[in-house]
Amino acid sequence: MKLNIALLAGDGIGPEVINQAVKVCDAVANKFNHEINWTPALTGAAAIDAVGEPYPDETHEICLAADAVLFGAIGHPKYDNDPTAKVRPEQGLLKMRKKLGLFANIRPTFTFPSLIDKSPLKRERIEGTDLVFLRELTGGIYFGEKGRKDNGNTAFDNCVYTKEEVIRLAKKGFELAMTRSKKLCCVDKANVLETSRLWRETVQGMEKDYPEVEVSYEFVDAVAMRLVQWPNSYDVLITENLFGDILTDEASVISGSMGLMPSASVGTENYLYEPIHGSYPQAAGKDIANPLATILSAAMMFEDAFGLAKEAEAIRNVVNRSLKEGIVTEDLSENKKAYKTSEVGDWLVRNI
Ligand code: IPM
Ligand code: MN
Repeated sequence: MKLNIALLAGDGIGPEVINQAVKVCDAVANKFNHEINWTPALTGAAAIDAVGEPYPDETHEICLAADAVLFGAIGHPKYDNDPTAKVRPEQGLLKMRKKLGLFANIRPTFTFPSLIDKSPLKRERIEGTDLVFLRELTGGIYFGEKGRKDNGNTAFDNCVYTKEEVIRLAKKGFELAMTRSKKLCCVDKANVLETSRLWRETVQGMEKDYPEVEVSYEFVDAVAMRLVQWPNSYDVLITENLFGDILTDEASVISGSMGLMPSASVGTENYLYEPIHGSYPQAAGKDIANPLATILSAAMMFEDAFGLAKEAEAIRNVVNRSLKEGIVTEDLSENKKAYKTSEVGDWLVRNI
């Protein structure tokens, strides 16, 4: 099979982790007789530096023309502490999500048997955790009207959702739940927020179409607590953009390292795969970042975007072996030898 993949390395550790994912994908393609055609494109601070825009039209065209997009990370500290900056790398990410129609962000959380004791949470609480967040990605407070009033002394960010936006995300949630343990949790703040009440009533209205799915409704603050207390009680969770952003960072702690968690962002036509971690500028260029979240995102890409389950399995298997054998970067190495980002990539390639 011929696979056309747009490659958006982005900023910080993005290029380093993306390089490892490319090596691993090429090795898998080689093994299973596929041909990958990679098309690199600029995004984030790297794109601002080059062309003054974090998601240039040319990059958008490349993403549209590709079968899937593999994405690293976006963000640069020089913008973080400058509230007056007119263009920001993150705007590129938001624009990309919106323009590609990537309304559903799929973030699985699972544990690796060999890493259970790396999690700050107790083994008996997290063992067997296998849940998936479906985070709405192109609406809510991220995209509502925002601005300043009163000479800049008052600021506002509007949170807006339409019924259609809720339905299309919830539909994916119900469908995913049907393929798993048929449990769906709608996370909201319906005791306070009107948008949450719309979410809740919309999802309630959809229950009859999925009679086998057991739906629960929980407030986001309670979920934040239960997620680390009894992660095993969850299976598929659907939620709005900002709640999903926060809860998925929290959930990554269960696995032991944020450097492990992959994600997929999908809509009706485009597919994008990216680690849930950010650009981690402190580690940029040092060859120390964990490449596994990006590599596991590539596994999701093989499976979901191309329907190549065996290839995805090959990646997951070799990743599991590397963890078991301690071929890991410093975030996971504890007192043992820490391997470099590129060494982990090389090891995976040799063992595929
Ligand atoms: C994420 C990131 C982004 C988000 C940032 C970089 C804009 O934190 O993908 O979770 O908030 O969506
Ligand atoms: Mn985030």
